[in-house]
Amino acid sequence: MHNLKVLVIGGGGREHALAWKLANSPSVSHVYVAPGNGGTAVDSKLVNLHITDKVELCVWARDNAIDLTVVGPEGPLADGLVDLFRDQGLHVFGPTQAAAQLESSKAFSKAFMQRHAIPTASFETFTDATLAHAYIDKVGAPIVVKADGLAAGKGVVVATSLEQAHAAVDDMLGSNSLGVTHNSGGARVVIEECLVGEEASFIVMVDGRHVVPMATSQDHKRLLDNDQGPNTGGMGAYSPAPVVTQAVFDTTMRDIIWPTVHGMAKDGITFTGFLYAGLMIAPDGTVKTLEFNCRMGDPETQPILMRLKSDLGLVLLAGAKGEFSGLSSLTLEWDERVALGVVLAAHGYPVQPSKGDVIEDLPADGPDCVVFHAGTALNGEQLLSSGGRVLCVSALAASVEAAQQVAYAAIAQIKLPGSQYRTDIGARAVA
Ligand code: AMP
Ligand code: GLY
Repeated sequence: MHNLKVLVIGGGGREHALAWKLANSPSVSHVYVAPGNGGTAVDSKLVNLHITDKVELCVWARDNAIDLTVVGPEGPLADGLVDLFRDQGLHVFGPTQAAAQLESSKAFSKAFMQRHAIPTASFETFTDATLAHAYIDKVGAPIVVKADGLAAGKGVVVATSLEQAHAAVDDMLGSNSLGVTHNSGGARVVIEECLVGEEASFIVMVDGRHVVPMATSQDHKRLLDNDQGPNTGGMGAYSPAPVVTQAVFDTTMRDIIWPTVHGMAKDGITFTGFLYAGLMIAPDGTVKTLEFNCRMGDPETQPILMRLKSDLGLVLLAGAKGEFSGLSSLTLEWDERVALGVVLAAHGYPVQPSKGDVIEDLPADGPDCVVFHAGTALNGEQLLSSGGRVLCVSALAASVEAAQQVAYAAIAQIKLPGSQYRTDIGARAVA
């Protein structure tokens, strides 16, 4: 199938990478990005669409004969965008609202994992603060407290002391100061065992019954070098992740991914879309699920898609139709080289990012170095910052060190007052 018209929902770095890869897919003729950003409007195949309402988007997709819609962020998934598009007979790659609970509700996903014997940290769920406090005193620190609901990465406290854990419970069950979007039934927290090891992002595509794995990756969640400072959405990522050995890969597919796909189908909420298992890999090779996301990672998507050689449009359309079995292979073709992306964040990120600043001297994209936009907007010819994570400079090279050199040489040219980036992206892969 050719001349596909594809709609990408979202406007961050992940969506720029998806749109970029789709625009480079031979099967795709047009890519519309809603709402997109300053980087998704500059290619002849790419068009930004200034619609955010899901009903308007659905009407537009129908009226414009869109062949495939791909959803980037979790918000529209949890909001039922996929259900709406499917009801109108549109092909859309992403989980329904019910299936998206794997990400949107920690309580749902933990209960799901328990029910289907999928390895994860031991846990209890609470709505009553007194019981939660008593549980913390019984188990002791370190301990992890998670708000139930989408919290844009701010709903998890890895408490090293009892005081921290108690304070987190008060925050999440008390004043609701985190602004978490609660599921029906009010505020809930999950309190769980603190796992140790190395984290990796394990992302696959699911068509309901079949699985197509993406290349492995790792991100850097803390703001500062050496994993110091506050948690962020992710300051950089690389692919492949050496910590995911063939043995770890096989274990993860057997013990986590397949039981999840089969378990969802058995529970009557068949999963379609990107399934992202956040893994904790213990020194002895034991793998446990930290969390599920029902979308690709940001910034993992940027380096992962730089390595993808297969036609993404054809793969995602097959997935949206539940027809991965019709692909010539369930194994995608990947560039053997390493891809590495470094995030350039605005001054003040993550607490209070500065916006509206002029960005200058962007290096030109080439086959081995692409600047993916996240928080940018065009004002005429001028490129302005519009969000916390502004750009992700991504490079492809024969080794991690070589990719670091290319990415860091490019990012050093960019002028954005007060901007910040980590200087050690990929360090764990080198070690
Ligand atoms: P989550 O949103 O559940 O992935 O949590 C965000 C981050 O918190 C993870 O990437 C981990 O770094 C950390 N985290 C979450 N759960 C645990 C756990 N049970 N043990 C240790 N660290 C955790
Ligand atoms: N980079 C982590 C995430 O997308 O959740």
